[in-house]
Amino acid sequence: MLRSHRMPKKTQSLLGQIDRAALPVHIAIIMDGNGRWARKRGLPRVAGHRAGINAVREVVEGSAELGVSVLTLYAFSVENWKRPQSEVRMLMKLLKEYLHKEIEAIHGNNIQFRTIGRIDELDSSVQIEIEKAIARTSQNTGMIFNVALNYGGRAEIVDAVNRLLRNGGPTAFQAGGVTEKDFAAYLYTAGLPDPDLLIRTSGELRISNFLLWQIAYAEIWVTETLWPDFGKQHLYDAIIAFQKRERRYGGLSPRLVRTGTK
Ligand code: FPP
Repeated sequence: MLRSHRMPKKTQSLLGQIDRAALPVHIAIIMDGNGRWARKRGLPRVAGHRAGINAVREVVEGSAELGVSVLTLYAFSVENWKRPQSEVRMLMKLLKEYLHKEIEAIHGNNIQFRTIGRIDELDSSVQIEIEKAIARTSQNTGMIFNVALNYGGRAEIVDAVNRLLRNGGPTAFQAGGVTEKDFAAYLYTAGLPDPDLLIRTSGELRISNFLLWQIAYAEIWVTETLWPDFGKQHLYDAIIAFQKRERRYGGLSPRLVRTGTK
């Protein structure tokens, strides 16, 4: 499915620099800058969100083509309800349209669609489209495409604690408490590996309540590029930068362990 011959030369050259044996298994993206992209063009904010769909298409296709196992996109946070009602309505409409139009292409690429977040609080018409997309792609064995919707990292942790309490938490405490592994099984991301690479667009240096538990050891890559301008070349740039990092998980670099220096 790689169509490198149709890519611009620069993108093709970046693709050639990626080590396919050392890909991030899970990439998470904070899509930011849609509003600024629109403002720069004298357009309404929703035009930025609409243009952002092209970037979604690019990263889904680009990640799946490379062989990334999980891609998580932050589409709507629990805090985003504070935006004008018309913008929220438009974002939900765009999401429905996207799923309706593109689920067959997603399915055709063997991608499994999933969501994380308080989906039950979304409008029932959105929930129906999500359920259809999940059901259509549930047997697929390729990349997991996870969309964070009505998502908050703190809300996720609170939801996990409440589920744990309902499912015999007190018994677990009597038996010596829960481990990190036990707890992670109650998060929305249960069963998924933690993100290795967290990308944020539009230059902001914030986590914005995204995957607070799961990004403990993620490598963070921030670009000034606004989300609607983000394409495969930026995804490749991020992966190349990731592959140059040394991940120590709080330990020492193997080089330092060998030489005994600090
Ligand atoms: C942040 O830009 C973007 C969002 C809050 C929404 C992202 C949603 C989409 C790209 C469309 C739907 C998603 C999918 C997965 C189909 P902003 O509005 O905060 O930009 P600003 O900071 O420049 O104002």
